[in-house]
Amino acid sequence: MDKIVNLCKRRGFVFPSSEIYGGFASTWDYGPLGVELKRNIREAWWRFMVTSRENVVGLDSAILMHPRVWEASGHIAGFSDPLVDCRNCKRRFRADHIPEKADRQCPKGMECDLTEARQFNLMFKTFVGPVEEDAAVAFLRPETAQGIFVNFQNVQQASRLKPPFGIAQIGKSFRNEITPGNFIFRTREFEQMEMEFFVKPGTEQEWFDYWRNARMQWYTDWLGVKAANLRFYDHPKEDLAHYSKGTTDIEYLYPFGWGELEGVASRTDFDLGQHTQYSGKDLSFFDDETRERYKPYVIEPAAGVDRILLVTLLDAYDEDVQNDEPRVVLRLKPRLAPIKVGIFPLLRKDGQPEKALELRDLLKQRFAVFYDQAGAIGRRYRRQDEVGTPFCLTVDHQTMQDNTVTLRDRDTLEQIRLPIDRLIPELVTRIEA
Ligand code: GAP
Repeated sequence: MDKIVNLCKRRGFVFPSSEIYGGFASTWDYGPLGVELKRNIREAWWRFMVTSRENVVGLDSAILMHPRVWEASGHIAGFSDPLVDCRNCKRRFRADHIPEKADRQCPKGMECDLTEARQFNLMFKTFVGPVEEDAAVAFLRPETAQGIFVNFQNVQQASRLKPPFGIAQIGKSFRNEITPGNFIFRTREFEQMEMEFFVKPGTEQEWFDYWRNARMQWYTDWLGVKAANLRFYDHPKEDLAHYSKGTTDIEYLYPFGWGELEGVASRTDFDLGQHTQYSGKDLSFFDDETRERYKPYVIEPAAGVDRILLVTLLDAYDEDVQNDEPRVVLRLKPRLAPIKVGIFPLLRKDGQPEKALELRDLLKQRFAVFYDQAGAIGRRYRRQDEVGTPFCLTVDHQTMQDNTVTLRDRDTLEQIRLPIDRLIPELVTRIEA
């Protein structure tokens, strides 16, 4: 983990937030390469979940919602963690995540004297408008899912879909976590990618199995995460959330052990039922072919962008030796790589830089490219390897004669010569692979 945190800071993936003021507890900013990686993760999710399907559509709902939403969803009454305080050092811990004794020493070597656990609601509270009064209370959403449920009817009617169909959303969520940590694994502000898939009651098990497997396949086939580092964890019945009939986590083997990456939940008709009751609006579905009316059941795959970004970096990180030199290489799937193509002139003379800049201008219309003419060519390759750039093109003496360049592959290190006019289709094929 330390190597990843360090690489992220040094190369511009992730910076500690408000760093010039000493940082701000467990908040992080994404730098130039981090935003590209994040965009590519979102794009891969959206293509897999939405645009490649005829029965899933998108939504972008507001972060601030009517406070009754959170009463109906159960978040006001039940979205809390048990919290304990140390009477000596005043530190706070989640009662179910208390660190080992050695890691919770009070100052002067005293042992922590912990209070009884009490429930602590994880929603951030704020006020809408200029007056800080109870009537103006609002919450930052702790999940994107409720924005989907309250728009169920709007979306269904506008898009004329009937179950089984899904509504997908990507956006920020906020939780006042008691113990954030492990870099961007658990933070108080994070981004979720959630899809609520509405099905006819009685078919939920079949769809639950479908989405569990589809989501696992996305991690291995679309993101290239090693299958050996992923597993399913089925929540035991007694640990299920109040709305759930079954939940499976997709877990990843992080440096600190197995942990959740994504949750797939069978949410029954709990949410539509609650919002029907609290809003007084009937959120059932009428099938005009079969003349049946029912409240759809819901299968929900819910993932976190930041956690996926961490996983793609951890999983892709590798060290090897090339030409007797140690090399750090991020073996990111090309579709995820923040920079797709590095472009170098071999020499800074004979018109090579001008030719390489021409090539950059041609390719930047299609791909994220990076031009570099500084330092030895081996060093330029290594700088790109370290940030996961899958392909590098070098303009050399021969280019000036026959308009060909060398294309170097980050993983195989194979170099082939290609005419410039064949580059775009070749790169498209390799990036989409
Ligand atoms: N609507 C269901 C829901 O929100 P969740 O398991 O609480 O389910 C879904 O969250 C995903 O969101 C998690 O699997 C994780 O990837 C991400 N996530 C949740 N809390 C997070 C946090 N504090 N920091 C970063 N990611 C988080």
